Amino acid sequence: MAPRSTDRRQAIAVEVTGAIGAVYATRTVVSVIERGVHVELIVSDYGRRLLRDELGEQASIDRFVPYLKEKYGAGVDAGTVTVHSNRDLGATIASGSHGCSGMAIVPCSMKTLAAVAHGLSRSLVERAADVMLKEQRRLVIVPRETPMSLPQLKNMVLCAEAGAMILPAMPAFYQLPKTLDDLADFMAGKILSALGFEHQLYPPWTGKTPSV
Ligand SMILES: Cc1cc2nc3c(=O)[nH]c(=O)nc-3n(C[C@H](O)[C@H](O)[C@H](O)COP(=O)(O)O)c2cc1C
Repeated sequence: MAPRSTDRRQAIAVEVTGAIGAVYATRTVVSVIERGVHVELIVSDYGRRLLRDELGEQASIDRFVPYLKEKYGAGVDAGTVTVHSNRDLGATIASGSHGCSGMAIVPCSMKTLAAVAHGLSRSLVERAADVMLKEQRRLVIVPRETPMSLPQLKNMVLCAEAGAMILPAMPAFYQLPKTLDDLADFMAGKILSALGFEHQLYPPWTGKTPSV
């Protein structure tokens, strides 16, 4: 599934870590590749567990792309995916010379949030996020935890100050969601907007409210 070296299509990185909300990650990956974009995918050890725990063995990382195709349809063939080892600090996206234009960490654990906030770069998840910040490219962090401690809140501030967008996993309800997929569509839509893509993953707020 890796693009040829001459392939100059846009590339977006998606990082999946061990916080609740695997369906946010799958919907985001699919929505990006449906646009013919190449996805650089990094899944932490606990992210891998999350995929299996929440979506079943069929969504384990070695079967991830077939799983996406089965659940979301043939649109998945429009793009390509490279799955990186989180231990490979020599991967292409560990360098600022890689032309990855944006990254979403979805969902983002408090552990990874802390590591990004402090520039630790111990794993590829952490290093590739650090590269986005140093190259001043779009980094979208989708934290999931509740309630949050003061250190966790401060880590979000540090990331925002460093240039990341903090986009909490807080789906809206004005669109009257009926299914979990509707909630995932909303979050993926927010992430796509933040990465600069147009989409119709949720209806825009119309401004129509009862008279108050
Ligand atoms: C079932 C399960 C659910 C978890 N949910 C969350 C969560 O929602 N938010 C969070 O910050 N950590 C959560 N954790 C803890 C993280 O997975 C843990 O801190 C892990 O070390 C994160 O590592 P990673 O960021 O490298 O994936 C959860 C762990 C498990 C096993």
